[in-house]
Amino acid sequence: MPERTTVAALLHDGEIGSRVRVQGWVRTRRDSKGVSFVEVNDGSCLKSLQAVVKPDGLPRCTLSRVTTGASVDVVGTLVESPGKGQRVELDVETLAVVGDCDPRSYPLQKKGHSFEFLRSISHLRARTNSLGAVFRVRSAASAAVHRFFLDRGFFLVHTPVITSSDCEGAGEMFQVTAFDLASVPLEDGRVDFDKDFFGKQAGLTVSGQLQAETIACALSNVYTFGPTFRAEHSNTARHLAEFWMVEPEMAFCDLDGCIDLAVAFLKEVIAAVLDQCGEDIAFLNRWVEKGLLKSLEHVRDATFVRMTYTEAIETLKASRRSFEFPVEWGADLQAEHERYLTEEHLRKPLIITDYPEAIKPFYMRRNDDGRTVAAMDLLVPRIGEIVGGSQREERLDVLKQSMEARNMALEAYRWYLDLRRFGTVPHAGFGVGFERFMMFLTGMQNIRDVIMYPRARRNLEL
Ligand code: 4AD
Ligand code: MG
Repeated sequence: MPERTTVAALLHDGEIGSRVRVQGWVRTRRDSKGVSFVEVNDGSCLKSLQAVVKPDGLPRCTLSRVTTGASVDVVGTLVESPGKGQRVELDVETLAVVGDCDPRSYPLQKKGHSFEFLRSISHLRARTNSLGAVFRVRSAASAAVHRFFLDRGFFLVHTPVITSSDCEGAGEMFQVTAFDLASVPLEDGRVDFDKDFFGKQAGLTVSGQLQAETIACALSNVYTFGPTFRAEHSNTARHLAEFWMVEPEMAFCDLDGCIDLAVAFLKEVIAAVLDQCGEDIAFLNRWVEKGLLKSLEHVRDATFVRMTYTEAIETLKASRRSFEFPVEWGADLQAEHERYLTEEHLRKPLIITDYPEAIKPFYMRRNDDGRTVAAMDLLVPRIGEIVGGSQREERLDVLKQSMEARNMALEAYRWYLDLRRFGTVPHAGFGVGFERFMMFLTGMQNIRDVIMYPRARRNLEL
């Protein structure tokens, strides 16, 4: 019995005349004049291998079990395919059904389901062409993330998932407790966290940045790539409660260095995906988002435009558009503003810098004008913001002022302030929302379709 080969390997460079074995799931079976054509897909690539069963090649009772979704183990000879669309096919010698799949109850019996329906069977949806493509692209993009940083001498660090600090200060942390919620210990009417598992209030991290900063102030260039959690109240197609973030942190680096790295990062990961996932991208370009390939090539090759927040506000005002949210210096930019700027005004990726201090977190470095900070958001057409970053405040006194202005408990952040006490350095970093980036890479319109099991408000399956 030959060793198992993947469908991808056979389709791309399987040797004509070789005896091979594949294992996978039946996508379709078509019978014509006693010959059966069985499409076998093992997920190794988009395409299936056509297994051709000659008349009387299989007992009738076995053939009737070769239905869509059934798992099969096939041995045969690889031959040139007379049919269109494939170089080779399999001349079947033996075909065994490994696991039956009842056609009356299998939800993927037919093709062409909506993404919404597929979300209701998320444990099976990777068996479709589109979601299969998404998960293969996700793997290639993840590998490219690591390659990008490791090639540049960055160290991979694993920042904690459970933490006591709310990095973004937005109050969106999920709490972690070992209390019996039916009888939480109270002290003067308030929860007595002293009695809880950690002896203090704990939560799931919203960003690994603060911990990454501590280690960047020792190893210089580091990055973390892990899950982050936000009790997001905005239930949109771009928000998840659990999402993955890529966060580099660089010592002796300013905002310009940070922006340069973010641009190089996006371009390189896009290039890797185009290079390695051509078939999947072509499929997504055809069936999911018509302009996908063009927009990927465009961002890979484009020069990114830079403007300050103040210029962005002026541009929005000059547009004479009526936006749902008013455009006013000091107000945060909304998705509609960001999309106007990057999609309509420039039609290019855009980096907005120097936001008002009041709408950004405590750790961003204050600019000399006294009212803005060295922040950057990177926006791309179709998605809007996919990267947020900044130069960090490295001056102890300025940082303290900024924390005090936000009523933060300085004592709880002694460790963070220590970085500014003991050999402080200018440093900077950014966070890429990996699922936002995946939406951009795959053309999927809903962030829930680029992660295996989306966690969002009132949404938790498996
Ligand atoms: O802009 P954010 O909040 O930045 C930070 O958390 C920084 N601490 C990162 C850093 O400097 N190391 O989040 C970064 C990115 C956003 O640009 C967005 O792409 C994504 O994370 N993001 C989300 N993605 C999905 N669902 C959500 N609820 C998201 N919130 C942010
Ligand atoms: Mg942001």
